[in-house]
Amino acid sequence: MFIIYGNFIHTPVRGELEVLSNHLMVVDQGIIVLLSSEFTNDANPTTLVSHVMSKFPGTTLTSLLFVSRHQFIVPGMIDTHVHAPQFVFHGSATGVPLMEWLHQNTFPAESKMKDVDYAKTVWKREASQALADEIERRRQRGYVGKINMDRNSIPEYIEDTQESIDETEKFLQYVLEKKNPLIRPVITPRFIPTCSPHLLAGLGELAEKYGVHVQSHIAESDDQMAFVEELHPRETDTEIFEKSGLLTPLTVMAHGTHLRPSDVQKLVSHRTAVASCPLSNFFFSGKILPLQRYHSEGLTIGLGSDLAGGYAASMLHSVRNSVIASRNIPSPQPGDAFDFRTGFWHATVGGAKALSLDKLGCFRVGMEFDALMIDVSIVEDGPPTHGVDTFEGDTTEVMFEKWVNCGDERNIKRVWVAGELILKRE
Ligand code: GUN
Ligand code: FE
Repeated sequence: MFIIYGNFIHTPVRGELEVLSNHLMVVDQGIIVLLSSEFTNDANPTTLVSHVMSKFPGTTLTSLLFVSRHQFIVPGMIDTHVHAPQFVFHGSATGVPLMEWLHQNTFPAESKMKDVDYAKTVWKREASQALADEIERRRQRGYVGKINMDRNSIPEYIEDTQESIDETEKFLQYVLEKKNPLIRPVITPRFIPTCSPHLLAGLGELAEKYGVHVQSHIAESDDQMAFVEELHPRETDTEIFEKSGLLTPLTVMAHGTHLRPSDVQKLVSHRTAVASCPLSNFFFSGKILPLQRYHSEGLTIGLGSDLAGGYAASMLHSVRNSVIASRNIPSPQPGDAFDFRTGFWHATVGGAKALSLDKLGCFRVGMEFDALMIDVSIVEDGPPTHGVDTFEGDTTEVMFEKWVNCGDERNIKRVWVAGELILKRE
């Protein structure tokens, strides 16, 4: 059990920032067990400890952290769509349309993961296993998929249909056998152009048999839409996924910028979520997801980096770009534009909802403690050592807004996952 005392900021209500000033939080076995405003004016270690000990007699306190005035605690952000093997080229290959980019950059880079020295692995399946192992080793939370493709990829990366299904089942079993609640396997048909109906049907059966998450790309770009029209005339991505049994409440579909109204309704009715990846969409989609409208129609929407379709790994970029996108929708409707508060909600609560993680996204008693400690201390001389210029008199709200808009990972001093401190920087 440990205590944190200081400022907490989160967005339990969409569009609204809640600052919990000088609050006392107690976390036990990964769960927030106390969140109190009783000591907003007089907190000293002795009072806090004796208060906590009187509430939870017989427990062992491991630490007491005082968060200073230029620091605050926020919920961990959830990246609902990221390509781990594309890290090698993120920041590059930014000038081509989607289908060309996949063939020129992405498929070759990913298929190299078969090389033992290159990816510490022998085969694609094992590369995904190695990723799950690495996430576990780092005590992170991560949902991992093994990509499926049995058509329209480069020869060295295409799988035989049955082999692809069998390898997926083995991968699911491998990850499930870890019995680690932080790590889950995800069925990952890449997208309709690279997956035959037979493959999709097989994966749909696995989704039902194992009750695991599903992810893919849906209605992303003009060139991808045109390709699907060629392969499956008059059928949309959504309809094809639906008839394959791949639209479930545990499904997260990336992009959705080219969805038709009837497709959106289908996703809503299956309680399938969308991972909106605005930075990637600026490059590939040619359209902006009307996030606010779809949210009000009942669609669950998380944010994703889509690394390396989006060049930036940090979720702060996803928040910022979701805000910029919302303010640049052609023929906007009232309410389309939103700000950092709504963006942050989608990066936390929205992402948690998208993944059916009902104990994550904000700070409440009974919720799991995934959090970041942000430091925006004033730098006296020279250029700021991080992106945020804080001035005396800035309120906690202002410091938070500056961090969301200008900060980066150098502002992150601590990271907790399920109550475990997994990163600490002085
Ligand atoms: N569609 C199919 N594969 C991909 C991918 O790797 N990135 C993006 N952005 N879209 C895709
Ligand atoms: Fe993607």
